[in-house]
Amino acid sequence: MTADDLDGVYEITFIHPETGSISARAQDDAPLFDVALESGIELGYGCYDGTCLNCLARLREGEVVHAKEPVALTPDLLEAGFVLLCVAKATSHCTIEIGSHLREEAYPSLWGE
Ligand code: FES
Repeated sequence: MTADDLDGVYEITFIHPETGSISARAQDDAPLFDVALESGIELGYGCYDGTCLNCLARLREGEVVHAKEPVALTPDLLEAGFVLLCVAKATSHCTIEIGSHLREEAYPSLWGE
């Protein structure tokens, strides 16, 4: 049986530039933050509501929807593929980049050097 055999279940690959990748299966109603945690990935979080940027990630392949408005993301960041894992759910198989470096890329004036 493959992930394609399971309706509403997607293969999610989380990639970190330093620690490598971890793959997991996600139900389509599961916040991707929870999927990552259940896979043993330690992610920072603050609000769990789409407002603080601590769970910032970047979608490399696939599609997600934000179940709540990701108010911490500007339209340009959304266009660039940034997502907030606490309010994001998969709608396809996905590859997602994770890591604190993404906050520096998204908001260099706040977190950059
Ligand atoms: S935990 Fe705050 S935006 Fe996701």
